[in-house]
Amino acid sequence: MFTVENQVTGHHFKIEPGETILDGAMSNGIGLPYGCRNGFCGKCKATLIEGEICYEAGTPPALSAEEIADGMILPCKCQAMTDLSIVVTELESIADIEVKTLPCKVAKIEHLNADVAKIILIIPGSESMQYLSGQYIDLIHPDFEPRAFSIANAPHNTGVIELHVRLISGGRFTHFVFNELQEKSLLKIEGPKGHFYLREHSDKPIIMVAGGTGFGPVKAMVEHTLELGSQRDIHIYWGVRSKQDLYMSLPSEWAKEFEHISFIPVLSMPDNSWKGRTGYVHEAVLADFETLTNYEVYACGPPQMVRSAANTFVKKGMFENNFYNDSFDFAYQVGEA
Ligand SMILES: Cc1cc2nc3c(=O)[nH]c(=O)nc-3n(C[C@H](O)[C@H](O)[C@H](O)COP(=O)(O)OP(=O)(O)OC[C@H]3O[C@@H](n4cnc5c(N)ncnc54)[C@H](O)[C@@H]3O)c2cc1C
Ligand code: FES
Repeated sequence: MFTVENQVTGHHFKIEPGETILDGAMSNGIGLPYGCRNGFCGKCKATLIEGEICYEAGTPPALSAEEIADGMILPCKCQAMTDLSIVVTELESIADIEVKTLPCKVAKIEHLNADVAKIILIIPGSESMQYLSGQYIDLIHPDFEPRAFSIANAPHNTGVIELHVRLISGGRFTHFVFNELQEKSLLKIEGPKGHFYLREHSDKPIIMVAGGTGFGPVKAMVEHTLELGSQRDIHIYWGVRSKQDLYMSLPSEWAKEFEHISFIPVLSMPDNSWKGRTGYVHEAVLADFETLTNYEVYACGPPQMVRSAANTFVKKGMFENNFYNDSFDFAYQVGEA
């Protein structure tokens, strides 16, 4: 096992012998840039400051002799032979990421409750989609207009995309997903899209407010912080109608395992057996915090939930530029009606 240090950010990560630097970085939650992952495009170029690397299949075509002499390496193809110190600009902005249209195969459809399905898509071959945790994709099928769904897994294995799809009453595409879409079907995805992504270089404590399947991108962001080993406080609020709508036990498990994560489920239409919080999810946040001045807030789900959170949190001290949101209908800006 070797250690790689990126001198630009101070991030360290371990890589196994035989693993490429890019794979090692990704499995440790570090967003190095890349494109083809095959030594052709040069998008992953980095500079080696210290240590020794090798290319198993010979020097890749994207590097010229001058670049090699200048210490340039291609992390997508090279392996470490010693501990390494490199210089490379990590991705933290969507401006750095290419939007692609890619074919994908439905690998698994799992019904998590009566109206939420987890869909696992695999991007075949050497293609992959680089994204930031929290972003979404458009799902493309020839019989429908493209439909937006948030990516529910952290970007550590970008050949796999997890989606949490809620069945919409009377919804054409979501009915197709629930009733006709089969495992092994082929679809296309276009993405990544959206400005809702974790600002990972901030150290402010985080409040995440999810409504229904708005938990999907929250899951991706929390998984990403765990991969990074971040100790930022995260307060997860998940608002749903009834207990069955809490379609995953993961946030309770995180809260048990990690001191810096808390989880508060909030039911708007509970039955008598529910002993937890009730009402609207944004109201639970307002009740729990004296001021929101120092917090970063990520809100995702139905438009009315996002709008209520935006308007009321500002009155409780939240700075508008610390509020990030994805509204599952239209992009809502703080201050709009
Ligand atoms: C950026 C973004 C990310 C999204 N991420 C997710 C996600 O991760 N998971 C997820 O389940 N959904 C997500 N959505 C919502 C999802 O795109 C819609 O639910 C889906 O497109 C509905 O398609 P449909 O063909 O079934 O419904 P349509 O046939 O298009 O609509 C049928 C009826 O339902 C209404 N409707 C449509 N969408 C909704 C909705 N979300 N809530 C209530 N009523 C609605 C329509 O106004 C219409 O009256 C996201 C939306 C956006 C904009
Ligand atoms: S990602 Fe294309 S050369 Fe490395």
